[in-house]
Amino acid sequence: MQAVDKHFGNVVALSNISLKVYAGEVMCLLGDNGAGKSTLIKTLSGVHAPTHGELLLEGNPANFTSPGQALDAGIATVFQDLAMIPLMSITRNFFMGREPTKGFGPFKYVDWEFADRVAREEMAKIGIDVRDPSQPVGTLSGGERQCVAIARAVYFGAKVLILDEPTSALGVKQASKVLRYIAQARNRGLGVIFITHNVHHAYPIGDAFTLLKRGTSLGSWRKEDITREEVLNMMAGGEEMASLDAELAEFQRTDSASVA
Ligand SMILES: Nc1ncnc2c1ncn2[C@@H]1O[C@H](COP(=O)(O)OP(=O)(O)O)[C@@H](O)[C@H]1O
Ligand SMILES: [Mg+2]
Repeated sequence: MQAVDKHFGNVVALSNISLKVYAGEVMCLLGDNGAGKSTLIKTLSGVHAPTHGELLLEGNPANFTSPGQALDAGIATVFQDLAMIPLMSITRNFFMGREPTKGFGPFKYVDWEFADRVAREEMAKIGIDVRDPSQPVGTLSGGERQCVAIARAVYFGAKVLILDEPTSALGVKQASKVLRYIAQARNRGLGVIFITHNVHHAYPIGDAFTLLKRGTSLGSWRKEDITREEVLNMMAGGEEMASLDAELAEFQRTDSASVA
């Protein structure tokens, strides 16, 4: 992404953003609510056209006018408002828009037997045992649903996987499961953009970090050049968190005093 701006009328949602994502690496995109993270990935994935600037994929200009085009080029995005239909089966969600067909012409039909088998196998590869892939996706946990979305991207040969806050609504155990699958996708050679506002989710898995604040980039760092504490402090609220810690410690002292 080179010198990208995105305006919505008078609102400047992104200003002069440049960043790079490499194959086989996780790039964490960090920033507070409203920083422009979702707008940035929507610009990368063909939902919004940039107002200025350009996108390059493997060195070639990539001007997508729809998410379908970005997907065809190998950029798979799991949006924050997870695009899945809860009452539809796991298989249907897995193959949505890419249903495998058999036969041709007027005799073409969707090969659900094949689809069910692939969905079951691909989920098994990432450690989720789906006994019945025709069960509604709504019966899966939030973490498992994120994993269906990741498995789908890997299966359809994505080069770049973009995940918008995949762990933010999850408990510790489920979040660690999703983080493990992100690592697997990276190990299979995908370039991953992992969006979060949780440094503790980002730091262990990130190879590089880009920090957004009010639509501008505060910079990008390789992991070896920045510590977890430095990332924490740079994120909006770093100082506030320190003073909150101090306040909480004070409360604790007065509480235990009143108990005694
Ligand atoms: N479609 C839109 N129209 C107008 N303003 C928008 C639109 N989408 C996002 N914005 C604005 O862009 C800014 C960044 O939002 P967003 O990208 O959702 O932030 P984040 O994902 O980091 O929380 C916000 O001020 C938001 O109101
Ligand atoms: Mg967002």
